[in-house]
Amino acid sequence: MKPTVIVKIGGSVITDKNTGSLKVNTSELRRIIDELSSTELNLVLVHGGGSFGHTLAKKYLVHKGKQYSSTHAASKVMVSMMHLNSIIMDTMVEKGLSPLSLPPHAILSDQGRFRAYQKKLLNLALNQGFIPVTFGDVILDQKTGFKILSGDFLAAELAIILQAKRLVFGTNVDGVFPNLDDNRILREVNRSTKFFSVTTDVTGGIQYKVKQGLRAARAGIETLIINASKPGNMKAAISGQKILCTKIVWE
Ligand SMILES: Nc1ncnc2c1ncn2[C@@H]1O[C@H](COP(=O)(O)OP(=O)(O)OP(=O)(O)O)[C@@H](O)[C@H]1O
Ligand SMILES: [Mg+2]
Repeated sequence: MKPTVIVKIGGSVITDKNTGSLKVNTSELRRIIDELSSTELNLVLVHGGGSFGHTLAKKYLVHKGKQYSSTHAASKVMVSMMHLNSIIMDTMVEKGLSPLSLPPHAILSDQGRFRAYQKKLLNLALNQGFIPVTFGDVILDQKTGFKILSGDFLAAELAIILQAKRLVFGTNVDGVFPNLDDNRILREVNRSTKFFSVTTDVTGGIQYKVKQGLRAARAGIETLIINASKPGNMKAAISGQKILCTKIVWE
């Protein structure tokens, strides 16, 4: 089987998390999909929530579970994510690709772990030439009723279970900044690296992304955080070309 690359498209790249507007930046989305189209490798795509996920989840406290939120609010976030997902699916089909959507709320629960059944689905899809597409979502949880499952978690999990060659987190900054007043990124981050993090979203922002990246790096997967807002970066990163970014290594 061809080597697999897992790509996470940050919601920060294709939506406006600052204003919370429920509009997709279609030119950015189209450009990134064009860049992904070039790969010969097996591709699995994960997209984040951006304004479609984080803004609503925060408003209704969906990340805190049923005790603080409601099943109706959880449904609202799921529907909003399905909406964003369908725009991405439409765009991929328009561009001649063959995506296959795997909404987490329909196939995962609790810790969001992929078991034999989900793994079989993924491999069947890849073997048929589909690009599996999944995303940060609300999933059912036996203890809290429901919870948010982060796209960053899914991306690392998929990289590990599919023994991917590479995991690329595309976001809207060049990589991980060491502190507030230094905008030169760290070229490498390992499990001991300390850096600042201001988290405004519901899934732990850059800190959680690095944590998930470390999990994949530990499993031997080449893991990068790149600026997907810069044209050409995604295409270069998935094919292993060197770009300005943060590489995540275990030690
Ligand atoms: N130390 C840091 N280094 C880099 N970015 C940081 C740091 N601390 C905070 N950030 C912020 O983290 C943001 C990226 O994380 P964020 O979770 O918002 O994006 P994303 O994962 O691409 O989007 P989504 O969660 O919707 O998929 C950057 O826009 C940046 O402002
Ligand atoms: Mg995020």
